[in-house]
Amino acid sequence: MKFFIDTANLAQIKEAQELGILDGVTTNPSLMAKEGITGKNNILKHYVDICNLVEGDVSAEVNALDLEGMIREGEELADLSDQIVIKLPMTIDGIKACKYFSDRELKTNMTLVFSAGQALLAAKAGATYVSPFIGRLDDISSDGLVLIEEIRDIYDNYGYETEILAASIRHTMHIVNCAKIGADVMTGPLSAILGLVKHPLTDLGIAQFVADYEKGNI
Ligand code: G3P
Repeated sequence: MKFFIDTANLAQIKEAQELGILDGVTTNPSLMAKEGITGKNNILKHYVDICNLVEGDVSAEVNALDLEGMIREGEELADLSDQIVIKLPMTIDGIKACKYFSDRELKTNMTLVFSAGQALLAAKAGATYVSPFIGRLDDISSDGLVLIEEIRDIYDNYGYETEILAASIRHTMHIVNCAKIGADVMTGPLSAILGLVKHPLTDLGIAQFVADYEKGNI
């Protein structure tokens, strides 16, 4: 399972990168705004900064809603680095843009996916990644993990190569459950990734080992 971090915060990206387990980064306009990155030039520069921090794929989202604008913005983003994955919204024009870019062998990530039908379309359009937002489904009393299962079944039925990128991960068990189902990638906050390390028995065991080692050295 690939691990992406879902943030535009350079310090958090660096911390995740230093763990040695990071495969990429996803961002969106809200995450950029949260870091105070506004204005086209600052946003493009920030993507370059992120690409320079990590080795893997970096999803950069278009802001246009029409096909022509998505193609223009997507090409501009792709020119920044080979690491850039053009992130497109799940709309009619987004699907057309996805097909346009996949025909030109540029990487794409279809975002704001909330149904199996949307994920099927993304695969048909040749998306590199499809991003079902599991936390936002959980927020409205739906079950995000069920959607991941449905997409996994559909993609396996037909051998689609589009990777299931479980997004809107909110906590550590989302990651574990997505791994059990077979999501190809998860993108989540640093806190959810670091949560995987924690277990009280590990802490107790370390305390015991340290105490026993110190006894032998008195
Ligand atoms: O990057 C897209 C997605 O992961 C957003 O998550 O927490 O805003 O639903 P969230």
